[in-house]
Amino acid sequence: MPHHRPIKIAPSILSADFANFGAEIRAIEAQGADWVHVDVMDGHFVPNLTFGPMAVKAFRPHVTTVMDVHLMIAPVDPYIEAYAEAGADVLTAHVEAGPHIHRTLQAIRGAGMKAGVALNPGTPAEAVAHLLDLTDLVCVMTVNPGFGGQKFIDLSGKVRALRTMIGDRDVHIEIDGGVDSGTAPRVVEAGADVLVAGSAVFRGGSVDAPEVYGENIRAIRAAVG
Ligand code: DX5
Ligand code: ZN
Repeated sequence: MPHHRPIKIAPSILSADFANFGAEIRAIEAQGADWVHVDVMDGHFVPNLTFGPMAVKAFRPHVTTVMDVHLMIAPVDPYIEAYAEAGADVLTAHVEAGPHIHRTLQAIRGAGMKAGVALNPGTPAEAVAHLLDLTDLVCVMTVNPGFGGQKFIDLSGKVRALRTMIGDRDVHIEIDGGVDSGTAPRVVEAGADVLVAGSAVFRGGSVDAPEVYGENIRAIRAAVG
C-alpha cells in the first residue's frame, strides 16, 4: 500500500564525533538530513550517559532544520524548561519514565515545544491511547534504548496499530533503533514517517568525507521511496 506522508530522515548524533558536534551537524544537514536527532541519556533510565541541556544549547546554532531531542532520563519534569531554553523543537519523553507522562506532555507543550512520547520495545501501543491529543510524535523504539548500533527489533505490528489509533490526528510516528535501508521499508509500510538513523548514516563518513553521509541518507530514502 503506498504511503502519502513525506518521509523524514533524522540522523542521530549519538554516532557522530563527540569532539566535533558543530561540524557534524552542519555536515549531515548539508547532505540532506531533514531533522537532527539528539539522544540525551542519564545513566539511570538507560545504562549510558551522553549530554545535558548545556550541550544541547551549544548544538542549537548549528541546527537549521528541526532539533529533535529524545530524553532517555528519569525524572523528566525538572528539566523541561532547561531544554526549552536550550532550543529543542521537539522534546520526547518516555512513557516508562514516570507515573505522570500526561502531565509531562502538557508541560512540554506549555513550554512552547512539540511534545513526543517514546515507547520501549516491551511497551504496548495502547500505553499512548489516552495521550494522542497531547502529543505531536510517537517514537517507537526498535532497540532497547541506551546505545547505537544495535540490531533492529521488528515491531511493524505496533506501528500499524499506532497509525490506526492516531487516525486523522497530525501525529508523526518516529522509528528509533537499527534503522537502515533494509529495515526502513517495513516500518514505513506500517505507517512510520520519521526515521532516526545513527550508525546507518554516519558509517564510513566523517566531516572530511561528508559525501558518504549523503550517500547513506539517500540509500535509506531510496529504499522507502
Ligand atoms: C538509542 C538511541 C538511538 C540511536 C540509534 O538509545 O535512542 O537514537 O542513536 O542508533 P542506531 O541507528 O545506530 O541504532
Ligand atoms: Zn533516540
